[in-house]
Amino acid sequence: MSFFPIEQAPARLNRSELAVPGSQVNMFQKAADSDVDIIFLDLEDAVAPDEKEQARKNIIKALNEIDWGTKTMSIRINGLDTHYMYRDVVDIVEQAGERLDLIMIPKVGTAADVYAVDMMVTQVEDAMGYKKRIGFEHIIETALGMQNVSEIAAASKRNESLHFGVADYAASTRARTTSIGGVHPDYSVLTDKVEGEERDTHWGDMWHYAIARMVVAARANGLRPIDGPFGDFQDPDGFRAAAKRAAVLGCEGKWAIHPSQIALANEVMSPSDAEILKANRILEAMADAEASGKGAVSLDGRLIDYASIKQAEVLVEKAKQIAGR
Ligand code: GLV
Ligand code: MG
Repeated sequence: MSFFPIEQAPARLNRSELAVPGSQVNMFQKAADSDVDIIFLDLEDAVAPDEKEQARKNIIKALNEIDWGTKTMSIRINGLDTHYMYRDVVDIVEQAGERLDLIMIPKVGTAADVYAVDMMVTQVEDAMGYKKRIGFEHIIETALGMQNVSEIAAASKRNESLHFGVADYAASTRARTTSIGGVHPDYSVLTDKVEGEERDTHWGDMWHYAIARMVVAARANGLRPIDGPFGDFQDPDGFRAAAKRAAVLGCEGKWAIHPSQIALANEVMSPSDAEILKANRILEAMADAEASGKGAVSLDGRLIDYASIKQAEVLVEKAKQIAGR
């Protein structure tokens, strides 16, 4: 291990994260009653310009008056290039900061963007005398944000998670896509020509590099990597496949842009019973080996390395968090 310590963000469940437009007050209670881990009340792209001000008021009222239970509450502020963003921060943190856990910064491009919002939030928190510190979630969804993802990830002690915003990322990089977060038939390879045989087309995951790049920056800074939207909410199989490949790459959660996607995200991002059992057995084997003074730990005839023990600890901790909700 490196001598360099990696401080971990607060351990929050972030298997599912529901997007709720701040202008759609009729959706708030349903979101509060749902099984989602984190809700972000949106002021940005799901809210039309002439509704921004009302959405901000709706969010302040909702944060103060609705019983959100133990859910983690976030707001997605407008971009730093708009004239809405400063009031999003000042008004909501001033008037509803006690119930706000996180602020999501969209289209973050540089570490200086994070610094600017950190400075504003710190001033408001200090003026209000809040004890709790609001955390940051960053959407990596532009070419600039992806280029600077490592600096962004390290830019503030408030940072908790990085999110892959595939829709804006596709627009920013001018990628060819047909559906938000889906695959593309042109991102494929043909198997070699073999006399007398038909050639197969193997579809690939065109988002592999972007997600993997973000996961590395997030994990190297102790943050949660989270996969963003999957647009076709009438395609649960497509959602599940996208969530699974994100989980395989290291993501620990995925957005839900429709309530029907919450259960799917929770299902894919929760450890299975078999995984929990195995993890517990690994930890027991480690404890036995320690008690008997053995240096090497083995289970079912196989040596267990340090990485498997670490992963087992993380998994058991997550299972406890889920059970404790
Ligand atoms: C999310 O904001 C996205 O652009 O995908
Ligand atoms: Mg976006």
